[in-house]
Amino acid sequence: MQKIKNVLISGGAGFIGSHLGLSLTRNGYSVTVLDNLSRQIHGSDPENSYLYKSIKDNVTFIKGDVRNRNDWERSLAGQDAVIHMAAETGTGQSMYRVFDYSDVNIGGTALLLDILTKNRKGVRKLILSSSRAVYGEGRYLCFTHGEVYPAARTEDDLKNGFFDCRCPVCRRQVELLPTHEDSKANATSVYGITKYVQEQLFLVTAKAMHIPAVIYRYQNVYGPGQSLSNPYCGIFSIFSTQIKNGNALNVFEDGQESRDFIFIKDTVNATILGLEDEKADYQVYNVGTGVPVNVLDIARKLTRLYRSKVPINISGNYRVGDIRHNYADITKIRKDLGFTPENNFEKGIAEFVKWVDHQELKEDRYPDSIKELKENGLIR
Ligand SMILES: NC(=O)c1ccc[n+]([C@@H]2O[C@H](COP(=O)([O-])OP(=O)(O)OC[C@H]3O[C@@H](n4cnc5c(N)ncnc54)[C@H](O)[C@@H]3O)[C@@H](O)[C@H]2O)c1
Ligand SMILES: [Zn+2]
Repeated sequence: MQKIKNVLISGGAGFIGSHLGLSLTRNGYSVTVLDNLSRQIHGSDPENSYLYKSIKDNVTFIKGDVRNRNDWERSLAGQDAVIHMAAETGTGQSMYRVFDYSDVNIGGTALLLDILTKNRKGVRKLILSSSRAVYGEGRYLCFTHGEVYPAARTEDDLKNGFFDCRCPVCRRQVELLPTHEDSKANATSVYGITKYVQEQLFLVTAKAMHIPAVIYRYQNVYGPGQSLSNPYCGIFSIFSTQIKNGNALNVFEDGQESRDFIFIKDTVNATILGLEDEKADYQVYNVGTGVPVNVLDIARKLTRLYRSKVPINISGNYRVGDIRHNYADITKIRKDLGFTPENNFEKGIAEFVKWVDHQELKEDRYPDSIKELKENGLIR
């Protein structure tokens, strides 16, 4: 097959998209970005945001919205591949902005696919940035019932400070297992549901159109460029902005909740692997490290690296829609595409902190976001 040259990245001014776009241009691709420079990510002066400034001289930038047919039409002209990343991404926020999240994430995806089903426009590859959020609480082992998929944790348990998952059959405590791509989709948030619907729309229409599609389920991505002003997602940047403002860190639950944190460079490398490799066609891949890290460890590590003495408060509060743990089984992407994460947690966090140290101090909007979550009944 002819090599891919022109790549459209929707949401390409965002954290992952901007790194991906720059990496693609360095590798000889010609990149177009469709992005509305949303204020939540890019701040009140978006044309001066760190992320936008980092890409603007290297890509063709189209300011537009994935909910607008004309914006897609003008961005799609002449493209060989589309990497669809534009999305609303706050798990907690998605629980009270149900329409907006569905509109952007599902509606925007549906519009792209609707246009392509009518006219493929020469597009030969589709890539979607999905999320570990599709797994919800993920996969566990019950010693009596084997592999199980716990539902969202109950209010009673959470209120009583019991944060772990239970077997959905016998209600006994269960042991965490990594999620693999065939694990049950079991989202516990509106965000997770929208990501899963995106996947299904992609796979079903891509097969019908014979345009190979690749779905990546990213774990928690972190690294330089992560929005330091968005208080709704990205624990590394939320904690960093609080520390830099001299404010105490608020850790939910008992701090033992964990995630699989993957460094931005590894995320970009994994994404590019599937762009040209036909083995990836119509496949779903986890992109993670396969190693869980708990939130309290991150809080401690960051305060130490910034040489800060801000207190770390373990609140015992919890957010509705949040999950306890998740980490990825990355056997499939390793085997099919030869992916190996090159940056472990120590190396990645050091590089992130070095970057933050050179950024201007951002206002700590976290208390406002907490107030908003509380007003919407999502923090208890
Ligand atoms: N960062 C993570 O840890 C993570 C984890 C799993 C999945 N993902 C997925 O990866 C993708 C990129 O995430 P990110 O962390 O770079 O997010 P981000 O918020 O930094 O970037 C998203 C970009 O999309 C743009 N955008 C938002 N709404 C838009 C609209 N209606 N029209 C056009 N552009 C719009 C924003 O301006 C922003 O530049 C998303 O699809 C997200 O769901 C991210
Ligand atoms: Zn059981």
